[in-house]
Amino acid sequence: MAEIAPSILAADFAHLSRDVEAVERAGVSMIHVDVMDGHFVPNITIGPPVVRSLRKATRLLLDCHLMIENADLFISEFAAAGADMISVHQEACPHLDRTLQLIREQGAKAGVVLNPATPVNTLEAVLASIDFVLVMSVNPGFGGQKFIPYTLDKVRELDQIRRDRHLGYRIEIDGGVSANNVGEIVNAGCDIIVAGSSIFGTGDPAAAVETMRRKAVEGRLLQA
Ligand code: DX5
Ligand code: ZN
Repeated sequence: MAEIAPSILAADFAHLSRDVEAVERAGVSMIHVDVMDGHFVPNITIGPPVVRSLRKATRLLLDCHLMIENADLFISEFAAAGADMISVHQEACPHLDRTLQLIREQGAKAGVVLNPATPVNTLEAVLASIDFVLVMSVNPGFGGQKFIPYTLDKVRELDQIRRDRHLGYRIEIDGGVSANNVGEIVNAGCDIIVAGSSIFGTGDPAAAVETMRRKAVEGRLLQA
């Protein structure tokens, strides 16, 4: 069953715990945390102090998506702050194997993120050892963008590879997801569905989670 991971990028940063509680009540198991450095992506968001505060406010898994350069310098701090899952961009990590080792050494689940234009075969060497692959379905940096359809081809490719090789990584998608396209997305093989504006941008985040979950189940049923 696909899981919904609400992205707090679209939440009210002055009322984060309130917004997290709203989706917690809807039964989600994780929160997606977007970390941007103003270098790798043209935007700045939050760092370890906010993760630390979130850790005190919720028992939900914290899925930290690092859109930063020099990730190695910050991984232990994010893990110590309470990140359960840490993903880094293939495009920003020249020493990807070392970076993934650092994440695992800190006891977090290790993921690699692919920008829309980055092919799956760049992960060939690490697919057997990672916990998840995050496929960006928008160019990272901002919420509220339009879903890029060809990124689903990469999801299908990753799904086929894990079946063929009996690998255990999960497939996450991020960007432009709504109740209208989530069915097609889970049908392509996604396990974790990140959604920001289509959840926190609505007046009722819990209801938005419920709707998206229902549409995701319908998508799976279509596939069966
Ligand atoms: C974009 C971020 C996303 C963002 C998605 O760079 O990685 O997680 O919050 O926002 P929506 O769901 O609004 O496209
Ligand atoms: Zn993200």
